Amino acid sequence: MGGGRKRRRRDGSDAPPVMHPRNRYAAAAPDFAALASLYPSFAPFVTVSGGGRASVDFTDFAATRELTRVLLLHDHGVNWWIPDGQLCPTVPNRSNYIHWIEDLLSSDLIPRISKSSETVRGFDIGTGANCIYPLLGASLLGWSFVGSDVTDVALEWAKRNVESNPHLAGLIEIRNANEAPCSSKSETVAEEAVRENTSEPVDSVVRSIAPIFVGVVKDSESFDFCMCNPPFFESMEEAGLNPKTSCAGTAEEMACPGGEQAFITHIIEDSVSFKNSFRWFTSMVGRKANLKLLVSKVREAGASVVKTTEFVQGQTARWGLAWSFIAPRKNVIRSSTPGKVHHSFMLQGLRRGNGAFQVLKSAETFFCASNLSCKTDSLSFSIDVTLSDEQTQAATLDGDDLPGSVEDDSTKVHSTVTGASFRISVFEQMPGTLLIKGSLLNKSLSGTFTSLFSQLEETLKTEFVSKDR
Ligand SMILES: C[S@@+](CC[C@H](N)C(=O)[O-])C[C@H]1O[C@@H](n2cnc3c(N)ncnc32)[C@H](O)[C@@H]1O
Repeated sequence: MGGGRKRRRRDGSDAPPVMHPRNRYAAAAPDFAALASLYPSFAPFVTVSGGGRASVDFTDFAATRELTRVLLLHDHGVNWWIPDGQLCPTVPNRSNYIHWIEDLLSSDLIPRISKSSETVRGFDIGTGANCIYPLLGASLLGWSFVGSDVTDVALEWAKRNVESNPHLAGLIEIRNANEAPCSSKSETVAEEAVRENTSEPVDSVVRSIAPIFVGVVKDSESFDFCMCNPPFFESMEEAGLNPKTSCAGTAEEMACPGGEQAFITHIIEDSVSFKNSFRWFTSMVGRKANLKLLVSKVREAGASVVKTTEFVQGQTARWGLAWSFIAPRKNVIRSSTPGKVHHSFMLQGLRRGNGAFQVLKSAETFFCASNLSCKTDSLSFSIDVTLSDEQTQAATLDGDDLPGSVEDDSTKVHSTVTGASFRISVFEQMPGTLLIKGSLLNKSLSGTFTSLFSQLEETLKTEFVSKDR
């Protein structure tokens, strides 16, 4: 996410933007005093200081819920309510995730899946009683949604929130993930584990979580994306550690056995079986240490593209993880751009925990996803990438040059250049800074090489470089 307001870090550097630039609260935070004068039910929750600054006590559940209600009504035309004790979303924060998905969908890296209709279709895993993502996505962008959940109260109130908005009701369907086959047994195990706060290894608890897609997504269905704000914590004790916010939410909403790591691992595992039903799989991640681990799991699962982002929201940082199994557009390996035989770029300000090895593996994933053959040498930190004869011929037909040839289309069809290849090398310049070099090995298809290299640069910068640079 670029743009938006920047905060100053203690070391003087710019912190990442607080809001997505298209977030309606990016330019100006909600005006509590103005809202209080328009909505009398909100006024008792607003305190005005001696200096005239209006504020709301975010540790008070009733105040936070009333603020969410008036923001949804005033700014989005949405009627909304949740019962006491349910997780209360903050509208500006939840909007950031919606806008990030909007960015993913508008990137042409991954083609739309053929069954997709004109209306963008999303799947909200664990929509909650608040049903916030479908309500925001539908009201802001006209997206349609299936929202799933497993608790009676979430299912009942999500449906009520949809029905209270007849102008959006046709766009949102709520489904019970417990009605999926074999779910009741696994739910019981999950609930018991949350109550007892058992810390089983992630792999064994993943299986105890109720189904995510199986039995919930229908055979004939396809979606542009899925999203999820998972139960982040392993226990309610862990969830209650932040006294600065009214950490409302029930055990089912806030915690699951194995915490977010197990929940998102479950999504990743299920995503393999549903790889053709979704263009993008996404989830919010609450801990940076988990993000790194989950990125490795997504890669192991065979995703063709992995993207991450950071949401900095007030005092809380969260991360977005997105992946897809759809091969990037064909033009990734077809280009008529006149090209060079050597290219390089720097990756500066790598996020902590990332280095030459992670970048090398990500570059390998990028080329493999384009169906190019890769030979990786982890000792010299290099990858030799080779185009098949068919890919070479396709690129040639598309206008890329062969060495020293001035050919008409008919001769290009019969060209017999084979094994067009190039080498990508990763060099550590200093801690946190890598130099990526690419060299064409046999001087053919320089346009294709140039195009691929610039896409690799964009992919690696998105994945590894902090957004505040
Ligand atoms: C942290 S809450 C998120 C609620 C809402 N989306 C939000 O952002 O405020 C997580 C939700 O996931 C639901 N959940 C847990 N396991 C699930 C599963 N297997 N399928 C669907 N929802 C599930 C919980 O009941 C809870 O409502």
